[in-house]
Amino acid sequence: MKKLSLAPCGIEDLLEQARGRFYAQADEQNIILLVEVQEPLPRLHADQAQLDRVLDNLLDNALRHTPENGLIRLQARRHGERVIVSVEDNGEGIAYGQQGRIFEPFVQVGRKKGGAGLGLALCKEIVQLHGGRMGVYSRPGQGTQFYMALPL
Ligand SMILES: Nc1ncnc2c1ncn2[C@@H]1O[C@H](COP(=O)(O)OP(=O)(O)OP(=O)(O)O)[C@@H](O)[C@H]1O
Ligand SMILES: [Mg+2]
Repeated sequence: MKKLSLAPCGIEDLLEQARGRFYAQADEQNIILLVEVQEPLPRLHADQAQLDRVLDNLLDNALRHTPENGLIRLQARRHGERVIVSVEDNGEGIAYGQQGRIFEPFVQVGRKKGGAGLGLALCKEIVQLHGGRMGVYSRPGQGTQFYMALPL
């Protein structure tokens, strides 16, 4: 993917729609999927279809690595001239030694693998094409938060 198709994009809609796509699967796993938006949030100038792909992969990952009765939060807040969007779970977490390489293509850790190990590499590329950056905080055994900082 090389070119974005930018348009005004409401962040709350982006997160609510993502929740809508995964609500049934979360419910089936007895996982609560929350959207928490810190108002007021300005609109982004972004490629919504591509940001949908980012959120789809992060939510697909979170649901795979979070046990029954878990909690997944989709959050957005403004931080200066950026908006921070994050997906946080209280699942198995990622070993500290692996966190630095998790965005590289084909890197998969543990047993609950998804497809090819390409999801996070694609997420990072899409976020960088928007002029943003992506990162992870995780505590093994406690949970994982993936975040993206997108410029306004
Ligand atoms: N929320 C999470 N909790 C724990 N581990 C995670 C989480 N998200 C990703 N990981 C780890 O990071 C690895 C890479 O994730 P990535 O999305 O790139 O690949 P994948 O999900 O395995 O495959 P694909 O996305 O191509 O279907 C995963 O295999 C998993 O080990
Ligand atoms: Mg994935």
